[in-house]
Amino acid sequence: METINNEESQEILKAENISIIRDKHYIIKDISFSINKGENWAIIGRNGSGKSFMLKILSTLVYPSEGSISIYGKKFGETNIWDLRKKIGVVSDRLQHDYNGNTCVHDVILSGFFSSIGLHQDAQQWQIDRVKEIMEFLRLTPMANRPFETLSQGEQKRALIGRALVFKPQLIILDEPCSGLDIASRDDFLNFLGKMIADGMQIIFVTHHIEEIIPEITHVMLMEKGKIYKSGKKEDMMKRKQLRYILGVEKFKMKEKKGRYWPRYY
Ligand SMILES: Nc1ncnc2c1ncn2[C@@H]1O[C@H](COP(=O)(O)OP(=O)(O)O)[C@@H](O)[C@H]1O
Ligand SMILES: [Mg+2]
Repeated sequence: METINNEESQEILKAENISIIRDKHYIIKDISFSINKGENWAIIGRNGSGKSFMLKILSTLVYPSEGSISIYGKKFGETNIWDLRKKIGVVSDRLQHDYNGNTCVHDVILSGFFSSIGLHQDAQQWQIDRVKEIMEFLRLTPMANRPFETLSQGEQKRALIGRALVFKPQLIILDEPCSGLDIASRDDFLNFLGKMIADGMQIIFVTHHIEEIIPEITHVMLMEKGKIYKSGKKEDMMKRKQLRYILGVEKFKMKEKKGRYWPRYY
């Protein structure tokens, strides 16, 4: 019998010396870090720096070539993977493109229970109730029966978040969730992320746009060529000089306002 209740531990995720090797090359090299209870992370880095790979490892979709990952103290590879996956919600654009556009919003969200795209099993009443609850929260109820492809980009993103929420995960991982959104839809979406955090969830998300780092984000990881350049408290990471370096832009200024960071490229 277990004597330690890992759900209560402070460390919700721990990566130790993880690497990803493809075609004899390191895509991710020797990364270690941990994420504690109450922390919300933004990952910043240029295209190809390994952000998506890293999220795939963290969400147990890809097994690291070297090193290990623990989620709530349970090691990836030594624990039932479906149990681990219930603890983490994943939102990625990749999933969005995989959808058959005819699937209605209700079923897109419901499919989260079956870790699959499309429905292969009969849903139970509690699952249908949960989907209803999520649709209310995400303001999707009026379009429950509409085909996914008829939704706006912003609504589609919300539906994918809904799919990630079915098991009430503590941690939500999002890969560039704001791509393709106009400014108003993006703000609306970021407000939802803020609400989820206020509800007790934690997020890790990837972005190229520093203005998307909402006040609720507490930590930032700066990635470069498959490695962590620096990571730590947001205030220490959001420095003009290192952002200029990590984003690869020479002429870049930044203004802090209401807990957000507004860039100006010139
Ligand atoms: N299946 C693969 N095999 C080999 N290399 C890959 C594969 N998928 C991605 N890569 C490479 O790995 C690097 C990191 O990719 P990725 O994590 O998607 O970067 P990011 O999300 O930061 O833009 C890139 O250089 C990419 O070309
Ligand atoms: Mg990516």
